[in-house]
Amino acid sequence: MTKIKACIAGVHGFVPDYVLTNAELESMVDTNDEWIQSRTGIKQRHILKGEDKGTSHMAIKAVEGLLQKTNTDPAEIDLTICATVTPDSLFPDTANTINAGVGAVNAWGFDLNAACSGFLFGLTTGAKFVETGTHKKVLVIGADTMSSIVNYQDRSTCVIFGDGAAAVLLEPNEDGFGVQDEILKGDGEGRQYLHMKAGGSRRPASAETVANGEHFVYQDGRPVFKAAVKGMSNTVTEVMQRNQLTVDDIDWLVPHQANLRIITSVANALSFPMEKVIVNIQNYGNTTGATIPLCLWDAQQKFRKGDKILLTAFGGGFTWGASYLTWGYDS
Ligand code: UT7
Repeated sequence: MTKIKACIAGVHGFVPDYVLTNAELESMVDTNDEWIQSRTGIKQRHILKGEDKGTSHMAIKAVEGLLQKTNTDPAEIDLTICATVTPDSLFPDTANTINAGVGAVNAWGFDLNAACSGFLFGLTTGAKFVETGTHKKVLVIGADTMSSIVNYQDRSTCVIFGDGAAAVLLEPNEDGFGVQDEILKGDGEGRQYLHMKAGGSRRPASAETVANGEHFVYQDGRPVFKAAVKGMSNTVTEVMQRNQLTVDDIDWLVPHQANLRIITSVANALSFPMEKVIVNIQNYGNTTGATIPLCLWDAQQKFRKGDKILLTAFGGGFTWGASYLTWGYDS
């Protein structure tokens, strides 16, 4: 019997109109364009504005574009996975709001919280449902409204993050194209370096937590930087080795976009030429769960059927990993 693979049948993204430039940040905190560009590679990021708009707003736009592009009736969607750390609310989950917004009346869904590795974890999760034959059309979305949890008085985090969403449609493929393998990790060892201090069950929101600024992203950047380079390089190497792949065999490396220096360090550690590495951090900053699918969206015109692609991510927890897939269509 032919083994079913879960193949990406289309990708679409959405970023809000408002562009927060480095120049505008200079007027908000003690920073400058030279520092931001040389230390992170970021030139601008998009910010979601407007009353009552949350992560589902961007995700719905991305999914609507995806359904149109792939000629998919929303009623055909079986499952929606939304990777996010900024859900519309703690419950109900954002995936259900997305299903309602796009008319996916026959789907079920859930949110997946693995910080910046969320899309990678969601891709594997979605792929398993397709591979078993029980689900034919699965949406995997990476979406985050980081501006809702960033402290715009903290220069060490506010220059980094941005808002955005992107989605892929997974479908069964019997010709061998699609998600091939992955190594995913989450060891909890780095929790103290990147987290939100309050707002969960252990430390619920109170006047004190709000006054202390405990509902913002907290990051100690240097240990995260070091662990990110090591974690992404090691898992990419391991996935390549067990699939008998060399750098020459790989067409594209799509890394999480947290810092241009992390991306180039990973590429150097793996001896990957930068021409094969997808980079768009200059335009969006770090959009957490959305970085990898936004890269796929931006770079899709370059992809050809059969291209071998490696995705790699690293995020709070720590969570990290690498996935190997083959592209299923000429874009
Ligand atoms: O996506 C999830 C995973 N996250 C990551 O992978 C992020 C990993 N970390 C990083 O990307 C980097 O550590 C940062 C971009 C967060 C920071 O860059 P860094 O080169 O590690 O800077 P640093 O935190 O060591 O700070 C160096 C200096 C400090 O000044 P002193 O103490 O040397 O005088 C900071 O106060 O740069 C200062 N600084 C800034 N200066 C101007 C920090 N932020 C800024 C800023 N503008 N925005």
